[in-house]
Amino acid sequence: MDVIRVTGGARLAGDVAAVGAKNSALKLMAATLLAPGRSVIGNVPLITDIAVMAEVLRRLGCQVEMAGDRVAVTAPEQPGTDAAYDLVRQLRASICVLGPLLARCGYARVAHPGGDAIGSRGLDLHVAGLTRMGAEVTGEHGYVIASAPGGLRGASIWLDFPSVGATENLLMAAVLARGVTEIDNAAREPEIVDLCAMLTGMGARISGAGSSRLEVAGVPTLRPVQHACVGDRIVAGTWAFGAAMTRGDVTVTGVDPRFIEIALDKLVLAGCLVETGVQSLRVRMDRRPDAVDVVTLPFPGFATDLLPMAIALAAVSDGSSLVTENIFDGRFMFINEMARLGAQIQTDGHHAVVRGRERLSSAPVRATDIRAGAGLVMAALCTDGVTEISGVHHIDRGYPDVVPDLRRLGATVERAVVPDAPAISLAPLRPAGPAGPGGLAGPGGLAGPGGLAGPGGAAGPGGAAGPGGAAPGQ
Ligand code: EPU
Repeated sequence: MDVIRVTGGARLAGDVAAVGAKNSALKLMAATLLAPGRSVIGNVPLITDIAVMAEVLRRLGCQVEMAGDRVAVTAPEQPGTDAAYDLVRQLRASICVLGPLLARCGYARVAHPGGDAIGSRGLDLHVAGLTRMGAEVTGEHGYVIASAPGGLRGASIWLDFPSVGATENLLMAAVLARGVTEIDNAAREPEIVDLCAMLTGMGARISGAGSSRLEVAGVPTLRPVQHACVGDRIVAGTWAFGAAMTRGDVTVTGVDPRFIEIALDKLVLAGCLVETGVQSLRVRMDRRPDAVDVVTLPFPGFATDLLPMAIALAAVSDGSSLVTENIFDGRFMFINEMARLGAQIQTDGHHAVVRGRERLSSAPVRATDIRAGAGLVMAALCTDGVTEISGVHHIDRGYPDVVPDLRRLGATVERAVVPDAPAISLAPLRPAGPAGPGGLAGPGGLAGPGGLAGPGGAAGPGGAAGPGGAAPGQ
């Protein structure tokens, strides 16, 4: 298994470029389905999610070429309509092919992506909006099946919550619907604005991009387009917090700093000097950060994807911070890993109180999702030793060059392959007979000494649940 080994104590200093935003690029790729012909998207990050989305599109009949940071998608006259579970489970964002397919083909069958490590992730708002536009949407055998044989029609839609994914799906459905669609309480994230810009370049008629009320006048057809993806504000924010935590001096280029205005404001409150340019930001810190409170909210609020970075900052700040998560119910899962680094955090529902320490304590930890992984990497920089972070594939999904970037900024960090924890077999413990001595409950059996729960057994010290066994951190 791959791990990232970070030696604590470095001060991050220098320049780093933010890649294109994955959460924009994936939706832009889905949007290419809306127009037959060859669309080209630039500034795309080189990450697995993009490759998975390329495969989703290929299976729908598109030709996809990837070269450097450019992805060219040639969408067919008649796309396929089925996005299967084997791909969708690898990439939740595949659900965003639902709107374009329904708009183009009048039918789509897309696997339900389910929840994930940051919590339950519903689709009710996607379904309710598409239903308002005249689609019939059902769920069967783990798939969302949507049909609108006579085409979609414009509708007035009010979202109960400004969901990013629902806004995107409804937008991509509305651009080819008959008549005008209004989406109220729409998400305002920069990635939505980027999608609106690309759709407009394809001939869509959209007003209100970046506001909470989008108006879309449907058109009969769209044309392919060339479009460059917006810079990744979450990657930029991650570096900004890294600079603050390590008393560093980091300039991030390739991103509009207004996309993370509130996060930068928090860093100023923590004691940082922040300078912004048109597509750049510089964060300088020369002392231990002051504790600041953070509340996540839909854009323009403090981004939930930066919550792990806020918690990592709070863990080394002077004082106590109250951190409130309002978007995902499972975001705090990674706090258990922060606790392994000695962070002092107590949670109550969607609130966490973090008492800062001067320095964290190195330990093996595991990334459970992309942003948790990034938070752990930044926290590891503030430990007293070498921290090994596993679950690196999560980090790769959002930060393609994290190790070389960290090195360039002065950190001592390496990527290594370590042996997987040995699989623990039950075979030696299997009883010879059904239930006698040495059987299921007897001495030497599953529950006896030397068995599953006994010392030296799978659950004892050295066993599956004990120190050195497979269970900790799994
Ligand atoms: N929700 C519903 N019903 C719906 C849709 C959403 O209850 O029909 C709930 C979700 O369960 C969640 C909340 O609304 O609790 C927010 O969901 P939203 O739809 O806004 O998020 P998303 O589209 O699933 C995108 C990003 C996330 C980012 C969120 C919020 C992509 C691929 N993902 O998710 O990014 O955290 O918006 O900004 O664009 C990440 O990059 O690490 C990541 C998780």
